[in-house]
Amino acid sequence: MMNNLASLVMENLRDITACEYPGYARILDHSFCTAPPPFSMNWFGRRYFELARDPEWFANSLVANSALEGYGSTQIWNFSTRMQQDEYIDAVRQHAMDESRHSTMFVSMLHLTFPGLSMDAGTEERIRMQQPRYSRDNLPGARRAAPECRMSSDDSISELVGVHLTEIRALVLQYLLRSVIRVYAPAPSEKRIGMFCASLIRDEARHIDYTARIFEALANEGRADQLADMFEKRVREFNDLTMIELEREKQMTI
Ligand SMILES: [Fe+2]
Ligand SMILES: [Fe+2]
Repeated sequence: MMNNLASLVMENLRDITACEYPGYARILDHSFCTAPPPFSMNWFGRRYFELARDPEWFANSLVANSALEGYGSTQIWNFSTRMQQDEYIDAVRQHAMDESRHSTMFVSMLHLTFPGLSMDAGTEERIRMQQPRYSRDNLPGARRAAPECRMSSDDSISELVGVHLTEIRALVLQYLLRSVIRVYAPAPSEKRIGMFCASLIRDEARHIDYTARIFEALANEGRADQLADMFEKRVREFNDLTMIELEREKQMTI
């Protein structure tokens, strides 16, 4: 039987693509069985629902999500300037723009969910600043690092594995968030919030998809063992980091 989180990923991939990634699926399942991520555990969901019962915590978490998506967006853009492989760039940059849009979507969801919310000017400014607002006409200046300044090919792939794990965590969080935001959503906002949630889940699944496709191709080129090592290492690091962030989250404020 497959690890529960690996199965969730496969189900979501099946929802958006007809492609099968058997090599990737084996590697993902193996790494999650070896080092189960905190967000695949029952206690993770229970803890989330416990915290989210407090509307103030939940409002803060929407702001924190906006910040996280915005930061992710700028990090992914920076990675696209330094990665070795030219052939991945378009997909990675599209990804950076998606995360930027997510950052702004979370602010919209905050106002739709808590229409009466009032914020001081400083908070409003901070929320504005944490959205990169990338678009086709508004992209960061740094285009592409000189070849000698780029990451090695292997480091680029390892980084892509790290990005991939962030996407899987984002997908789990979107599902948790969707079930809570439905409870808070005032009737007139329900439909729009539902659309936002569906679009976030679909986008995160698409981010998992394009990276999985890259990993599958590498596995088929005879690099499955190398990829499996990278996954195991990155999953362990990512799990440690998630635990540190969970500690910090407890003290989160707007
Ligand atoms: Fe996102
Ligand atoms: Fe994403």
